Amino acid sequence: MYRTHTCGELRKENIGQKVTLCGWVQLKRDKGGMIWIDLRDRYGITQLAAESVNTSAEIVAKIDSVGREFVVQVSGEVIERYSKNDKIPTGDIEIKIEDLKILSESETPPFTIIDNTDGGDELRMKYRYLDIRRNPVKNALMLRHRMAQEIRKYLDAQDFVEVETPVLIKSTPEGARDFIVPSRMNPGEFYALPQSPQQFKQLLMVAGMDRYFQIVKCFRDEDLRADRQPEFTQIDCELSFVEQEDILNIFEGLTKYLFKTVKEVEIDYDFPRMPYVEAMEKYGNDKPDIRFGMTITDISENVKGKDFVVFDSAEYIGGICLPNGSEYTRKQIEELTEFVKIPQIGAKGLVYCKYNADGSFKSSVDKFYTEEDWKTIAAKMDAKAGDMILILAGEKERTLHGLSELRLRLGNELGLRPRDTFAPLWVVEFPLLEYDAESGRYHAKHHPFTSPFEEDVKLFETDPGKIRAKAYDLVINGVEIGGGSIRIFDKDLQALMFKNLGFTKEEAEAQFGFLMNAFKFGAPPHGGIAFGFDRLCSMFGGVDSIRDYIAFPKNNSGRDVMANSPSVISQAQLDELGIKLK
Ligand code: AMO
Repeated sequence: MYRTHTCGELRKENIGQKVTLCGWVQLKRDKGGMIWIDLRDRYGITQLAAESVNTSAEIVAKIDSVGREFVVQVSGEVIERYSKNDKIPTGDIEIKIEDLKILSESETPPFTIIDNTDGGDELRMKYRYLDIRRNPVKNALMLRHRMAQEIRKYLDAQDFVEVETPVLIKSTPEGARDFIVPSRMNPGEFYALPQSPQQFKQLLMVAGMDRYFQIVKCFRDEDLRADRQPEFTQIDCELSFVEQEDILNIFEGLTKYLFKTVKEVEIDYDFPRMPYVEAMEKYGNDKPDIRFGMTITDISENVKGKDFVVFDSAEYIGGICLPNGSEYTRKQIEELTEFVKIPQIGAKGLVYCKYNADGSFKSSVDKFYTEEDWKTIAAKMDAKAGDMILILAGEKERTLHGLSELRLRLGNELGLRPRDTFAPLWVVEFPLLEYDAESGRYHAKHHPFTSPFEEDVKLFETDPGKIRAKAYDLVINGVEIGGGSIRIFDKDLQALMFKNLGFTKEEAEAQFGFLMNAFKFGAPPHGGIAFGFDRLCSMFGGVDSIRDYIAFPKNNSGRDVMANSPSVISQAQLDELGIKLK
């Protein structure tokens, strides 16, 4: 037996026992004849102690030779600690070293393995196995584990069956690029890695599985951000004989259950629901953070026609009201102006109007607007004396995006987005189609199997962009945690959908033939949803980056800096695959 206990286990009650522990040397302190070692494993830290005069020369020599991150096996008696450490659960005791065996030596690690390490991001990624020894990363993985267990428990109790779906598949269009895998046995042909198991889960419904789930890896070749990885994990689900309402209820239930069991946060109200159009108009964003106000008001009507060319020529003019903003200095306003000009936002400038505490107004466009004008605008925006109105103008979608970014930035600055407050929200009634000016075609906003509202189907003829979909997103604190839809299960409606997406019959057949075929054999009404598991974990952990919740993540260029992949492959491998590089 390597060990009798773990390094997180021993307490006062164990005093007097002979024990054996194994672990890594976190720290060694030598103070004139007394040596202490902090021994670490996944479970915690236990202090080991040896007094040179009372310990055999052989053991003292071994203790002398161990350094940071050596793996050792130590036996000895549990004794009461002279100076206790109330910061760790084992802080009342220590082990009097009677025997010590070095199981494995360690080179000096490239960064210190402590909670607040000196290691930069790339270095930690390169030595991720050392990084995982640190509490913050280890705890993130433990949280992820706990979440996965609770998810399985909840879904199992609701009759969901966990089914694995293939990873080498035919391309599933979900909006991103596919990762492609060549096939040696089928030269010139390629698999794609699934962007999600979308079509397979629908097939499982045709197969009569009724309720499916899978905690599953998905692959998308897209530009990366803090909340996006090229391979990520979904809690993927599909259900038969359900309406949107059933799905929202079950997954609202799952979310509440996880908050309660994993985070001890009780959410005792129904999640609010907001139509997509409202989210866009009020928050400039389809994933609004509703923890704070400062919503957007369309003031186009109020400011046009007053000879201010910038506003007169703009498609849309919108404003947000910054509470107590009238005290903002010129420098602070300049900073906000610089912010809205960054390329990702692309505004030409920022107009402001201070609603001073004495009830007067002072704006950056006083030439064009009277006190009366501002009074009307302030009333419309619910602005109070002491506030400041911030205005952007331009093309509507872009301007709303700018206002959204400005709102979120101010929300952060004002401390209105605390990590320990959670505001879940269902965004519903997404548009079915999205017009792409470049190709002059409509694209499916969610995916081509998403069902439109029955009453909107007639709009295919007149105004396809206005068709609402039975699609929904779960948003928490401004993060899109999950999304799904009720699916089309009617052949004719599906054909109409493909036609509107610009697919010929043959193209639709080539891409989705197997699903369409399956629908010929009795498809139940069905729908589903997928949560981003990494995002859910990082939200629970109070961290923005999902990387910390993935054991071996990729960096922002999609590289695994530890294994150094992607990497070139040998000519022999290329030849075998029949691939010639350009
Ligand atoms: P969707 O594309 O909305 O839906 O994805 C579901 C959820 O997965 C998460 N997610 C990501 N997380 C990390 N990195 C990424 N690159 C990434 N992309 C997406 C998000 C998102 O809400 N098949 C449909 C679901 C369905 O209709 O049932 C789908 O994949 O949290």
